[in-house]
Amino acid sequence: MFIINKLRNKSIREIGTFIFMRFCTSRQVILGIETSCDDTGCALVDSTGNLLGEALHSQHLVHLNNGGIIPPIAWNLHRKNIEKTVNVAMENANLTFDKVSAIAVTVKPGLPMSLSVGTKYAKYLCNKYKKPIIPVHHMKAHALTARMFDRSLTFPFLVLLISGGHCLLAIAQSIEDFLLLGESIDDAPGEAFDKMARRLKLKNLPQYSTLSGGAAIEIAASRADDPLQYNFKEPMSQYKDCNFSMAGIKTQFVRHVEKEEADLELAPDSIIPGANNLCAAFLLVMTRHLCHRLQRGIEYISRKGLIPPENQTLVVSGGAACNNFINEGLRIVCEELGYKLLRPPPKLCTDNGVMIAWNGVERWNAKIGVLDKYDDVDVERSSPLGQSLIDDVRNASIRCKWIKLSKLSLPKSQW
Ligand code: KG4
Ligand code: ZN
Repeated sequence: MFIINKLRNKSIREIGTFIFMRFCTSRQVILGIETSCDDTGCALVDSTGNLLGEALHSQHLVHLNNGGIIPPIAWNLHRKNIEKTVNVAMENANLTFDKVSAIAVTVKPGLPMSLSVGTKYAKYLCNKYKKPIIPVHHMKAHALTARMFDRSLTFPFLVLLISGGHCLLAIAQSIEDFLLLGESIDDAPGEAFDKMARRLKLKNLPQYSTLSGGAAIEIAASRADDPLQYNFKEPMSQYKDCNFSMAGIKTQFVRHVEKEEADLELAPDSIIPGANNLCAAFLLVMTRHLCHRLQRGIEYISRKGLIPPENQTLVVSGGAACNNFINEGLRIVCEELGYKLLRPPPKLCTDNGVMIAWNGVERWNAKIGVLDKYDDVDVERSSPLGQSLIDDVRNASIRCKWIKLSKLSLPKSQW
């Protein structure tokens, strides 16, 4: 009644402005801060999932030239860039801090020195502007980003996270609860890509000089003239579980590189002539490994009735999910088993502030983990994604009839 009286005798334009202002004041805005590894990311997302502004400062080139991430260097660069990155995101969103409802920040898992920069800065802002803090689990944020783009994605769903630090197959049961089906027992896929690209010295070629190892290997593989020149043995095929391993793939790769370098007596900076074919073989065996573990995971879920038919969706995310070849392999398995495949836009598969802000929105809306007191909020190097079913998957010992990946195509491929 009060509102109707207030709007009496007002023009349409004034009524429109009034409604817009009321909407703006009731809308919640979450600021997200990400510094778990080598990217300083920041974004503002509102409670309905609109991205209002973002900024990303990447340290990628520094680490590429250093041959890997050196934690004190990453720490220093985060410290240098955090304030500016937050301010640029605020400017892009055209917002001031009084319009921010809460600050979400990655606190685990990740490099402790890197995590501490974002966490300390978030606490400083929360204290200064009297805002609650929302501590975020980096891998849960990767897993839930897809819900920002597909509102029909409801729990439970299956998720495969393949990044520079993790390889996890899990069921997302809610914002907070995950059931872990498999994880890497050594390196993560992105880490393996980075190490092998370095061993191959791909960055010495101008076309790869600024790319991540994964992106460089994907392009090199697409240029293979004989993808079957090298034949890699798939790791862990004797283990009927859903764990992953990259060690065996890396050993085979390095053995081929060392042999060719020695046979051809190559100069230290030169790249072996078979590099593209080797990358293709590497990408194929990695894809096959991921697809087989996924297939066993889906068959386990179906036996145990863990995901109802209407929810059969696989979300793939993390930096290595940018790889279109891997994505196509996963799609073939999903289609065959009646799953829908969802991948967030590639720039949101790699680390970014948007996924942290969105996770903050999810938590704000569900009223989970929004804290007014943050003295006890601390960073953690590692943190389980959720309850482990790994032993139960192993005990089920599921033997699969592998779905053929022959539809996968690289140039001249007969895979
Ligand atoms: O998720 P992310 O940005 O950082 C972590 O949380 O680890 O992932 C970074 C990783 C790097 O190892 C990089 O080589 C990999 O993602 N990556 C790719 C591709 N683009 C980035 N791996 C395979 N294919 C790609 N196209
Ligand atoms: Zn990540």
